[in-house]
Amino acid sequence: MTALNGKTVLVSGATSGLGKSLALQLAQAGCRLALCGRNPEKLNVLVAELALPVDRLLARAFDLTDHSAAAKFSEEAIRKFGKVDILVNNAGANLAKERIESIDLKAFAAMLDLNCTAQLALTQPIWKSMTTAGGGRIVNVVSSAALFANTSIGSYTAAKGAFQALTGVMRREGRAHSIHVSAVYPGGIDTPFRAQARPDYLKPETVAEAIIGLLRLPADAAVHELVLRPPIEDNFA
Ligand SMILES: NC(=O)c1ccc[n+]([C@@H]2O[C@H](COP(=O)([O-])OP(=O)(O)OC[C@H]3O[C@@H](n4cnc5c(N)ncnc54)[C@H](OP(=O)(O)O)[C@@H]3O)[C@@H](O)[C@H]2O)c1
Repeated sequence: MTALNGKTVLVSGATSGLGKSLALQLAQAGCRLALCGRNPEKLNVLVAELALPVDRLLARAFDLTDHSAAAKFSEEAIRKFGKVDILVNNAGANLAKERIESIDLKAFAAMLDLNCTAQLALTQPIWKSMTTAGGGRIVNVVSSAALFANTSIGSYTAAKGAFQALTGVMRREGRAHSIHVSAVYPGGIDTPFRAQARPDYLKPETVAEAIIGLLRLPADAAVHELVLRPPIEDNFA
């Protein structure tokens, strides 16, 4: 088992849902955390809840689609902690739910940006640093939406599909540098991601536990893909 104690982990989208559960569980595991979200009030609540010493925490609120802010945050994390051992690209949203004929092209581009391009902007400085540090782990939170063509969410599905494809290239390019890249495909998770509560969906704590479980695996196993669905879902072949 790989010990997570003392590892530096950067989690995006840490102010809510899955990212917040990850932050809380990783803190319990003894990690040093670089956390970002968009909403400063929510970030302050998380920071208070974590109650970590300053040498174990960096927390910043910014919009991830500001690519230079995203890259600066990664650079700041590397400066503060020396390196980032594990990056979890978790931030994301599904804000354009139309059928094909009604998809607004600007909203489509915004979904592609948040759910894929912005992840790349955050990753690039860490990628460079991992190549010189001798490797690292990257977990990209995709979605089961990339595995099944649900109707009415074309923008989100296309954006997560692009992120899935980018993840595949990262995995292959990372291999030469000992950067292990995992794609996680959750089905529905009961988080503020959607307005209505869904107690029949996955709990964010459970998905966080699964991600941490794969991070704890010994180095002889590189987990390429992890698919988790709540038993209620049947959107699979
Ligand atoms: N919930 C589901 O059913 C489900 C299923 C499959 C995959 N996923 C994926 O799982 C990941 C986590 O989602 P979740 O369910 O935990 O949703 P959530 O509770 O809504 O959390 C999303 C996180 O992303 C951040 N975020 C959103 N837009 C941002 C922006 N423009 N700039 C910076 N940060 C931004 C949010 O920050 P603020 O809160 O500070 O705005 C929040 O921390 C996402 O990638 C999502 O696509 C979710």
